[in-house]
Amino acid sequence: MFQFKDVSYGPLKDLTFSINKKEKVILFGPSGAGKSTLLFLFNRLHSPSSGSIYLKEQEIVDFEVTELRKRVGLVLQEPNLFPGTVLDNVKYGPSIFGEWDDQEAEKLLQYVQLPESYLDRDVAQLSGGEKQRVSLARTLANSPDVLLLDEPTSALDYRTAEEIEECLENLIEVHNLTMIMVTHNLKQARRLGERGLFMVDGRLVEDGRIPEMLEKPKSKELEKFIED
Ligand SMILES: Nc1ncnc2c1ncn2[C@@H]1O[C@H](COP(=O)(O)OP(=O)(O)OP(=O)(O)O)[C@@H](O)[C@H]1O
Ligand SMILES: [Mg+2]
Repeated sequence: MFQFKDVSYGPLKDLTFSINKKEKVILFGPSGAGKSTLLFLFNRLHSPSSGSIYLKEQEIVDFEVTELRKRVGLVLQEPNLFPGTVLDNVKYGPSIFGEWDDQEAEKLLQYVQLPESYLDRDVAQLSGGEKQRVSLARTLANSPDVLLLDEPTSALDYRTAEEIEECLENLIEVHNLTMIMVTHNLKQARRLGERGLFMVDGRLVEDGRIPEMLEKPKSKELEKFIED
């Protein structure tokens, strides 16, 4: 699905790896390792200074950037909603492509487990967890194949984080999504991940199965990271 060939950018050094369709990948490692930087390369929020990135055999620079970002959705730690109602936010993406149908709205809210009555609410008045649900619904509205998640639950309290995590797990299953998620939470990594990419200082230090790689780390770096 995705293929990185000798990609360098900022802190990232010569990364070569590929990700298969429907794989559930956890990107983890110490703060400053380059996880967010790497994640942003997938939908061209960053562009490599050298090397190439392919999506299904085609270099991502050859895609129209709006089309790429429709297929490769991104959800961040802080919900990036714009002022307005829940409906304004969820219809935004599809409206750009003239693909919005008001009947979609109800279904989208169901996916993220919010009542339909929330459509008219001002997003400024929602709780952190609710905002994160709207943020997810807005991304799903574009019918992505790939979901990029940068610590999507780390700004939430423990309980809300678990609720959002369950919601995510469900969505990924129902929509057959490929997931690439950054998380510092190894319990979450075990619950949602199948494959782990462990990064230190801009390099991929381990690439393995979850939970096996967490139980039997091969490198000193991962061993130490798990201990801490
Ligand atoms: N274009 C760039 N050129 C050089 N250095 C950069 C560039 N972009 C980011 N960096 C540096 O790369 C490092 C990695 O940043 P990044 O935000 O990707 O880390 P992270 O692994 O997501 O960390 P955290 O867990 O704290 O979110 C940081 O030290 C950052 O300052
Ligand atoms: Mg980060």
